[in-house]
Amino acid sequence: PVLVVDFGAQYAQLIARRVREANIYSEVVPHTASVDELLAKDPAAIVLSGGPSSVYEEGAPELDRAVLEAGVPVFGMCYGFQAMVQALGGTVAHTGLGEYGSTPATVSDATSTLFNGQPHEQSVWMSHGDSVTEAPEGMQVTASTAGAPVAAFEDDERRLYGVQWHPEVMHSTFGQRVLENFLYKGAGITGDWTAANVVEELVGAIREQVGESRVLCALSGGVDSSVAAALVQKAVGDQLTCVFVDHGLLRANEAEQVEKDFVAATGVDLVVVDAKERFLSALAGVSDPEEKRKIIGREFIRVFEQAARDVVGSRGDDEHPVEFLVQGTLYPDVVESGGGTGAANIKSHHNVGGLPDDLQFKLVEPLRSLFKDEVRQVGLELGVPEAIVWRQPFPGPGLGIRIVGEVTAERLEVLRAADAIARHELTAAGLDRDIWQCPVVLLGDVRSVGVQGDGRTYGHPIVLRPVSSEDAMTADWTRVPYDVLAKISTRITNEVREVNRVVLDVTSKPPGTIEWE
Ligand code: XMP
Repeated sequence: PVLVVDFGAQYAQLIARRVREANIYSEVVPHTASVDELLAKDPAAIVLSGGPSSVYEEGAPELDRAVLEAGVPVFGMCYGFQAMVQALGGTVAHTGLGEYGSTPATVSDATSTLFNGQPHEQSVWMSHGDSVTEAPEGMQVTASTAGAPVAAFEDDERRLYGVQWHPEVMHSTFGQRVLENFLYKGAGITGDWTAANVVEELVGAIREQVGESRVLCALSGGVDSSVAAALVQKAVGDQLTCVFVDHGLLRANEAEQVEKDFVAATGVDLVVVDAKERFLSALAGVSDPEEKRKIIGREFIRVFEQAARDVVGSRGDDEHPVEFLVQGTLYPDVVESGGGTGAANIKSHHNVGGLPDDLQFKLVEPLRSLFKDEVRQVGLELGVPEAIVWRQPFPGPGLGIRIVGEVTAERLEVLRAADAIARHELTAAGLDRDIWQCPVVLLGDVRSVGVQGDGRTYGHPIVLRPVSSEDAMTADWTRVPYDVLAKISTRITNEVREVNRVVLDVTSKPPGTIEWE
């Protein structure tokens, strides 16, 4: 792999993704990893990320010079660049000429390994207070900016490279090209990390892990569990059984897509549990959001547990018991929980919603090396229906937390109809990829006066909550064009009884959350 050493900024995961966009497998490792630990992974190259510290600060993370002497190609960015300078004996100084944001850079050698064929003037994204004033011996300086006389250096002999800026962010115009030049030309790596190869590799790994045992998967209809199930199905075929709990809180067509399209496309053995009535009666009379979430979570576990026991009883036998449970854990979860298997397991186990301990499953986590966009590519490669592959995030408790007030069958029907219209129009306007997700919320406890035809109405408002985001931790409201909003509003008020008003949520997160409950 290409190892991305994380010097404590948010950039390491982004760099790892950029490396993979070059079709090269990458992993994030903490800067506390020793040289031996790094080399044990047999890295094809090492990328040193940016970080928040100054190399001069007390306790600032240091780069062991041995990393640069191991014969492995290294590329330092920002803090990683300065750490290289410090380790190799150049000078980093506080010059008072910090640069932040888009900065013009001058490339002095446009035939070099990093800048081959690029313009001499380019825009790069900077974020540095200290500057390199003197390059280490043997380094050729190939770019500079007003505040950074040494903004890039290269040494083809030792295969050591670095830039002061952040090539991984979009605002660096030639950032991806510079990174790819390092990977392909500097390090001589061939890009063969493609969806097809990934599928082949993962399928092999699943077969090895699972052997002859049976596997269970809780299918939610979301991208992750669907792609994970499709992979396991490809690997071990009918040793896999999927359980889909229909809690009646899904959007229009979602249950059908899983029951019909997904099964048709992948051939999985699917057990559908119709638990709509059960969830509705458990939710009757409840308006408090936290209580609704608790009830839905609790009922889900009970239903799934029962289904799992049924499957264990009917599908497993003494020789081939149901031993494994599929989990759609993604790479960011693994990195964030320290990368160690133990920590990641605790978190992913929790994802299922706390499965009963006495079921004692081992986990199969086929997506734990993948980012979300890669999961989608793998899904497409496996023939998972596009409607599922491109599905926007949808909360486990579903429409149950998008009805403010009590959840009833009638209100669910109203919300489902309004939501289907909004989704249809946003898709028709080509906005799906611009919008992270668009919750549609029914204010069940609010009524307002309206007029329709000759009559006064007293109906419920529908809230549109389109948001743009990268990871759902923060979000901004999406500037959906007025004509699209107008169309959604007109259609919903005309076609959905009970709704006489459509409003737009223009709150960022924070202070608002994405969901209303
Ligand atoms: P909030 O509302 O906290 O949502 O800004 C952040 C993201 O998480 C989703 N979400 C959930 N997902 N189970 C889930 O699987 C939940 O209980 C849940 N609550 C919120 C939400 O849709 C958004 O993408």
